[in-house]
Amino acid sequence: MNDRLAVLISGRGSNLAALLGACADGRLGLRPALVLSNRPGAAGLRIAADAGIDTAVVDQRTFADRPAFDAALAERLERCDPALIALAGFMRILGADFVSRYRGRLLNIHPSLLPDFPGLNTHARALAAGVKRHGASVHYVTPQLDGGPVIAQASVAVRADDDPERLAARVLREEHRLYPLVLAWAAAGRLRLDGDRVLFDGRPLGQPLTPLETVT
Ligand code: GRF
Repeated sequence: MNDRLAVLISGRGSNLAALLGACADGRLGLRPALVLSNRPGAAGLRIAADAGIDTAVVDQRTFADRPAFDAALAERLERCDPALIALAGFMRILGADFVSRYRGRLLNIHPSLLPDFPGLNTHARALAAGVKRHGASVHYVTPQLDGGPVIAQASVAVRADDDPERLAARVLREEHRLYPLVLAWAAAGRLRLDGDRVLFDGRPLGQPLTPLETVT
């Protein structure tokens, strides 16, 4: 496996910044080779450019349909030939062909304790459901939206005075700790997707790993 990491973003880029920081510290064993956005105005593009990393935009609005967009994305990624592709706030559903092409190399971070709350507005939905704990999951990407095998999770306690913004901020801090850890495992060859099972150090995971201390 080479050491090239591609990160796909659509917006703010705080997870991207956490990953770039971990790469710079040598915690990932990966080199950020490309940051690719489907939106030209994504703030994360500036973060990448300031760090001297190659950026690219594949603007979804300029393609007639999903297969055409996915093909352009794959074409740009092939030039970088990444060992791993991290979706970090990438707000575009990828088609089955794209996903199977990169199966086992494509990871996502999602702001909920999957399988609870796939999709959007996870923090508001968690509050409305009255859950006691909420958090984030890193999972392998499969064609099912936010449905791929979960590798690891981090959770926080929901507080009585939480609103979606306060809860999101606490979860986001955990995302920034969790994603670099998981990518470091992947880069070190400790993770593998075997059918629909995640293998960690060669053994199937019974449940998602929880490598961070529980915070309240
Ligand atoms: C994060 O909460 C991530 O889990 C979700 O989208 C958000 C992206 O935030 N997929 P950022 O762009 O990384 O700041």
